[in-house]
Amino acid sequence: MPVTCVFGMQWGDEGKGRIVDLLAAESDLVVRYQGGANAGHTVVVGEERYVLHLLPSGAIQPGTTNVIGNGVVVDPEVLFHEVDSLAARGIDLSGRLFVSDRAHVVMPHHKRMDEALEKLRGDDALGTTSRGIGPTYGDKVRRAGLRVADLLEPSRYEDVLPKSIEAWNAILARAEMAPIDVGAVMDETRGWGERLRPFVADTVAVLLDAWRGGKRILMEGAQGVGLDVDHGTYPYVTSSTTGPAGIPAGTGLPPRALDRILGIVKAYTTRVGAGPFPTRDTGPSGQRMGEQGHEFGATTGRPRDCGWFDGVLAKRAAATQGVDAVALMKLDVLSGLEELKVCTTYELDGTRIDAPPAWTGDLEACVPVYETFPGWEEDLGGARQFHDLPATAQTYVRALQDLLGCPIEMISVGAERERFIPLDEGIPVSV
Ligand code: IMP
Repeated sequence: MPVTCVFGMQWGDEGKGRIVDLLAAESDLVVRYQGGANAGHTVVVGEERYVLHLLPSGAIQPGTTNVIGNGVVVDPEVLFHEVDSLAARGIDLSGRLFVSDRAHVVMPHHKRMDEALEKLRGDDALGTTSRGIGPTYGDKVRRAGLRVADLLEPSRYEDVLPKSIEAWNAILARAEMAPIDVGAVMDETRGWGERLRPFVADTVAVLLDAWRGGKRILMEGAQGVGLDVDHGTYPYVTSSTTGPAGIPAGTGLPPRALDRILGIVKAYTTRVGAGPFPTRDTGPSGQRMGEQGHEFGATTGRPRDCGWFDGVLAKRAAATQGVDAVALMKLDVLSGLEELKVCTTYELDGTRIDAPPAWTGDLEACVPVYETFPGWEEDLGGARQFHDLPATAQTYVRALQDLLGCPIEMISVGAERERFIPLDEGIPVSV
């Protein structure tokens, strides 16, 4: 399919990087359309492990063109670091990385403000990644942001930067915190524009040309629908539209350009940062998922909370984002658990509900209603076909598919590239 979207259906960290890596091999372009360096997409190729925060995962595929769309917030420091680190490992991005001239820039003061705002929130801190995401999108929406195009033109830069900083200094003054020094930020960022220049393009035109020319384009979502600014667990969310709905705005391709929507879910649920998590398991099962699944944030190194598959969250994501098919990740992590639980509905004040309530307090009061399934002992790493899975694992996967209401077309059973079960024809009907 020419334009495919891969996006997370939970609270991020579903394993999108791995699927993007598989699909990137068959794509001409890989595109980031939202978020910024708060993402952490891990790809393992042979003995090599790559963690990318800002670059599209196609960067490590030779011959793939990579686009950072206008909806992304670009941290030049991270971008330069990733480009240089890949170059040091023999991967050259010259001529195959395009950064939108309309993308907003994460400045050093945005990162500082991210931390300051978290401090000011006190007990209500969101647990952000401290990558300056919220303040940069905040500047964008209140029309005081600095875009890549501004960085290229010193007079525009000098005009726009003080406007952004002025507003933040007003907040810092109220909190009796030291102000941001415009001159110091200027000094720190001098040279960014020239370093960026070779990559900067009107990516809207690049993408429209590619689309009209029938090129295969892969849209790489970051975070997940649970963190979506509209459909997530607000205010414990990130500041962008994480699902396919973010693509037209974040790239300039029209909505009808999208041909295929592939949602990514993990076989259990994780969350990092603050916010409600009804199926969180703080006991030995959750602990085991964390250990077996190496559940540590790729960006911040923070341990992720783990819990059971939340069907309410995932079903809502499938419905609101129009998912065509699902890739089920990390099924192998559940090996060794005697019993598996799947949340099918929530109970709030004695009433069963099957959509997440709007208010955080209500979501925190929701009690998950579980269906239980027998677990399996076997290591799943060698499974390459659905029938290689133990019968109990097959039953579990079928139950998730029924709950989601859309076909599971891929199952991952390990981090390495070859450890997955393709299900192009869907899950076989008989066991
Ligand atoms: P921010 O995106 O840094 O503003 O953080 C807002 C919330 O989103 C926090 O709870 C973060 O932990 C969470 N978050 C942001 N990016 C990711 C991600 O890539 N994976 C998982 N959680 C994320």
